[in-house]
Amino acid sequence: MLELKKLLYQPATAEKPILKEVSLQANLGEPILIAGASGSGKTTLVEIISGLSKPQKGLICWNKKPLKASQRRLLCGVVFQFPERYFLGLTVAQELRLGHRRLEGEAQSKALQSVGLSEIDLRQAPERLSGGQQRRLAIAVQLLRKPNVLLLDEPTAGLDWSVRNEVLELLAYISKKQVLIVVTHEPELFKGLLSSTYLLKEGHLLPMTTLD
Ligand SMILES: Nc1ncnc2c1ncn2[C@@H]1O[C@H](COP(=O)(O)OP(=O)(O)O)[C@@H](O)[C@H]1O
Ligand SMILES: [Mg+2]
Repeated sequence: MLELKKLLYQPATAEKPILKEVSLQANLGEPILIAGASGSGKTTLVEIISGLSKPQKGLICWNKKPLKASQRRLLCGVVFQFPERYFLGLTVAQELRLGHRRLEGEAQSKALQSVGLSEIDLRQAPERLSGGQQRRLAIAVQLLRKPNVLLLDEPTAGLDWSVRNEVLELLAYISKKQVLIVVTHEPELFKGLLSSTYLLKEGHLLPMTTLD
């Protein structure tokens, strides 16, 4: 179980706090959707949870234990917006191996299988995959790190309708094994798929059920 407790975050360069008092509990099998307008702090929150930034106040706990930023980096996998822009591997196989000294064939095929890419040719360039396949490859790369928590920043951005559903179905599947948090500015696309929806607004995280 992941818990955010009263997070406050104000980078030195910002006039006012981006996150004022953000609390949240996320459990396995109960994927969470965080909606919010552009500029509301969604990406900032993903950076904080995953240990890329540190809040000035508040705690982030895993199974009741507070974690330092370095521990959160190990705990979390992150797929940032438009991950396909940052592929480094010349082939799909290389992309999957990045950051691993050794990668067992079995782990690789399991990761590909869990994102529905078992059938693809590993020797092709990642850029040759379809938009939906590229997103799924980026998720497979993170799954190989065996994160307890998977954070996805705008996973449907820039995808057309036909491939969006591919990605959405995958999320429901992944959430059974990882604590899953998805942030998006288009929450209507995820209707019925993710258990709880919150709205990030003016530095606060509000359950959506109380809004509608
Ligand atoms: N390091 C920073 N210094 C100053 N302002 C920042 C910094 N990081 C983010 N911001 C500001 O915080 C707000 C939230 O940004 P962001 O988390 O990217 O929002 P979202 O992902 O919801 O669009 C924006 O107004 C952005 O300009
Ligand atoms: Mg963002």
